[in-house]
Amino acid sequence: MYRTHHCGALRIDDVNKKVTLSGWVQRVRKLGGMTFIDLRDRYGITQLVFDMETNAALAEQANKLGREFVVRVEGTVVERTSKNPDLPTGDIEIIIEKLDIIKASEVPPFTIEDESDGGEELRMKYRYLDIRRNPVKDALILRHKVAKAVRNYLDDNDFVEAETPYLIKSTPEGARDFVVPSRLSPGEFYALPQSPQVFKQLFMVGGLDRYYQIVKCFRDEDFRADRQPEFTQIDCEMSFVTQDEVIKMFSGMAKYIFKTVKGIEFEGDFPVMTYEEAMNSYGSDKPDLRFGMKIHQLNSVAQGKGFKVFDDAEYIGGICAEACANYSRKQLDKLIDFVKKPQIGAKGLVYVKYNEDGSFKSSVDKFYSQDDLKKWAEVFGAKPGDLILLISGEKNNSLNALNELRLEMGERLGLRDKNKFVALWVVDFPLLEWDEESKRFHAMHHPFTSPKEEDMHLLDTEAEKVRANAYDFVINGVEIGGGSIRIFDNKLQHKMFDLLGFTPEEAEAQFGFLMEAFKYGAPPHGGAAFGLDRWVALLNGSDSIRDVIAFPKNNAGRDIMMDAPAPVAKEQLEELSLSIRQNKE
Ligand code: AMO
Repeated sequence: MYRTHHCGALRIDDVNKKVTLSGWVQRVRKLGGMTFIDLRDRYGITQLVFDMETNAALAEQANKLGREFVVRVEGTVVERTSKNPDLPTGDIEIIIEKLDIIKASEVPPFTIEDESDGGEELRMKYRYLDIRRNPVKDALILRHKVAKAVRNYLDDNDFVEAETPYLIKSTPEGARDFVVPSRLSPGEFYALPQSPQVFKQLFMVGGLDRYYQIVKCFRDEDFRADRQPEFTQIDCEMSFVTQDEVIKMFSGMAKYIFKTVKGIEFEGDFPVMTYEEAMNSYGSDKPDLRFGMKIHQLNSVAQGKGFKVFDDAEYIGGICAEACANYSRKQLDKLIDFVKKPQIGAKGLVYVKYNEDGSFKSSVDKFYSQDDLKKWAEVFGAKPGDLILLISGEKNNSLNALNELRLEMGERLGLRDKNKFVALWVVDFPLLEWDEESKRFHAMHHPFTSPKEEDMHLLDTEAEKVRANAYDFVINGVEIGGGSIRIFDNKLQHKMFDLLGFTPEEAEAQFGFLMEAFKYGAPPHGGAAFGLDRWVALLNGSDSIRDVIAFPKNNAGRDIMMDAPAPVAKEQLEELSLSIRQNKE
């Protein structure tokens, strides 16, 4: 037998028991004639004791153990003289009577402890060793708990988990497809699903009524901390529902996850905010509502005083940071550098300090009187001691920069507490986005999202103003999920394809099967999909979803453990009727 207990099990009540444990050697410490070993497994750490005086041969054997050796020991549980309150097993230790080395280990490339000396790439290369560390192991267990909670909740609400294929034709989620060459149909390719979108809609045509799937999705897009080329969705669809009913169902799921996994209860409904309000007040369609610091527009009070930058601007807006009027020149310069970074793109930053004595000091005092600045302060409801920061220019760019500045100030002021969770739904997204480069509309969500009934008349004349029955679920400024009420009418779906620049032939070639299905009694339906990786990362307090994925890809999309992607054999290429172009430029 390898073990009677695991390494996190034994307590003071077990004193005098004869036990057998197996696990990994985390540390060997020699202290006088005694050798202490921390034996580790998934469940915890137990201290083993070898005494030179009572059993010299055994103690010498123990002294030779290296880190990560796999051993089996037999011994007796005793009470510790110096207890370790940080360990659940810290009241006891095991006096060892027998030691078997099951498997020796080479010295691991990094220390396998909570605080490791290994960098991220090294730990990814040896991910199986990294998984022995608590932070990674605990993240995987948390992920399991979230998935289990999701299944419980959806099962209780009559959702059926059904699988959909991975080898399919392109799905329109707006990213590039990963493609798989077909051997049997030379020159043809499958696409890996960017999501199961069309299949879940076909399940509704199939009368399944409520579907879900915890499913891998594949998108060839640029990397960010919250994006991986393969990631997991909690994908859901419902028939005969309104937007409010969908929001209610998945608010319930969110609450259930928080309660069962984190013990956190939310009072009442999650707030629902329109896209327009989110953009105007936070400069983002995923506002972080853990703190206020709303954006306000100042055009009416700041223009016409001779300050050309403001007078010529389409938009002037700002935020008010509480109790920051004491910011030094250096601190302000840093903020100016921050907003001028290319990815943020502001041309500059105007500041107004609302001094404790009630006076104002600004970087534009030449143009504005104390009374003028007071009017600005009133827009923000500012108090003495506050600092107002303004950005002007083209509206969308300025709002985008103000969003980044707001988040940066939130961070500096410690307002983005990782243990606080504030969720909301953002609704009424525009149906379409104009793309200057391709000079055509793109679906903001995807082509199957329905327009709002009351905006339908604008489809032919001012399509950019049409709002969609689409919604996103946002927690702490992270887009956790999104969905929509779908189009289920053929004529409207054709119209949508037309607006998106598909010729009837292209639409037929790509989505003919869906249009065909809609001819046979498609029920009204809608749904949503949630990013499992993002949700778990948030609950785990991780900045990157890599932390909660068992075997993640690095920033260049590579699996550095397996070293993928990799070339394939010549024979394989031949079988697939493929050849590789040598001149890579
Ligand atoms: P969407 O494209 O918004 O919707 O995706 C749903 C959620 O999936 C997560 N997500 C990602 N997570 C990690 N890495 C990525 N590359 C990545 N891309 C998306 C996000 C996002 O909110 N079919 C629709 C859903 C629907 O309409 O029902 C869809 O896929 O958390």
